[in-house]
Amino acid sequence: MIDQKLAEALKDRARTGDQTALRSPELKSLFDQLKTLPAEERAAFGQSVNELRQELQSLLAGARDKQEQLPPIDTTAPFDANTPFDARPRLLDSGQGSVHPLMTELAQILDIFYRMGFTAVESREIDDDFNMFGSLNFPEGHPARDDYDTFMTVQKDKQNRPFIAPAHTSTMQNRVLKRLKPNLEKGEPIAAVIPGRVFRNEDLDARHEHTFYQLEGVYVDKGVNVGHLIAALKTFLQEYYGKELEVRTNPFYFPFTEPSFEFMLSCPFCDKKGCQICSQAGWIELLGCGMIHPKVLHAAGIDTNEYTGFAWGGGIDRLVMMKYGVEDVRYFHSARLDFLRQFA
Ligand code: DAH
Repeated sequence: MIDQKLAEALKDRARTGDQTALRSPELKSLFDQLKTLPAEERAAFGQSVNELRQELQSLLAGARDKQEQLPPIDTTAPFDANTPFDARPRLLDSGQGSVHPLMTELAQILDIFYRMGFTAVESREIDDDFNMFGSLNFPEGHPARDDYDTFMTVQKDKQNRPFIAPAHTSTMQNRVLKRLKPNLEKGEPIAAVIPGRVFRNEDLDARHEHTFYQLEGVYVDKGVNVGHLIAALKTFLQEYYGKELEVRTNPFYFPFTEPSFEFMLSCPFCDKKGCQICSQAGWIELLGCGMIHPKVLHAAGIDTNEYTGFAWGGGIDRLVMMKYGVEDVRYFHSARLDFLRQFA
């Protein structure tokens, strides 16, 4: 007779799907035992060992079928896949994702500029010293470079200078001017807007993020002056906010524009009454702008005796904050779903 305890232990192992039950030394020892038995006992013992082996095989097959019925293991799931569906922790339904509000707004902003005859070129998220500073008339070692403190890579360019996470979209001016220069030869203006993500070494607060979006604009043609600059920006802003607005310019300094201005806008949220968004001032310092410096046009091979142009650059996050009364710029990148869902 087969030792019942041993047989039950082997069956238990097979029930759990343990394949080694069939190849176990215990089973082998039963077959070895068979050879030592007297002939009259051998047949009956042999039959029961065979039956045991068949039973183990069918238990293993049953265990395999059961495993196949289980849902496949999702190694990314933060719960055991064997947990019944109803008992699983509630997860975000990926089907409920939506376009980020900054991107929805950007599409509307670009649409306004398309209708004004501008084309759009996306900026880069890694750039070099020439595009960040050199082409924009920042001399080597000039203190104005300090206003654009940002992140740099360990890897160096051919001149042994680090690559830069751009602190503004103006990095694209030289490329865009060069690329669209043939427009001028055809008698058409260069008119481009350049949206992109920019980076700064900032002390973070409700108004400052280390990563945000800017929209740059360049316009070059014969006879372009400051009046065109102000008219173009005012037209865009009134279209975007859907109301009449007042604008003001204050003298400012940028190496890449001359003259340079800080562009002020009557607060579209409170209409100059004073509110949290405009810090009770009624006016908002919106962006930087000016007439493109002749050295910047030269760097792109544009003849400054014939052509002049204006440019501007400002934060997209800021525009959107003022449209909806968002009080903290950090909400945009905070992954706060209660915030984001308001726009969905
Ligand atoms: N790049 C400037 C900044 O981020 C903003 C700016 C000022 C852009 C004047 C321009 C410009 O194109 O002409 O502070």
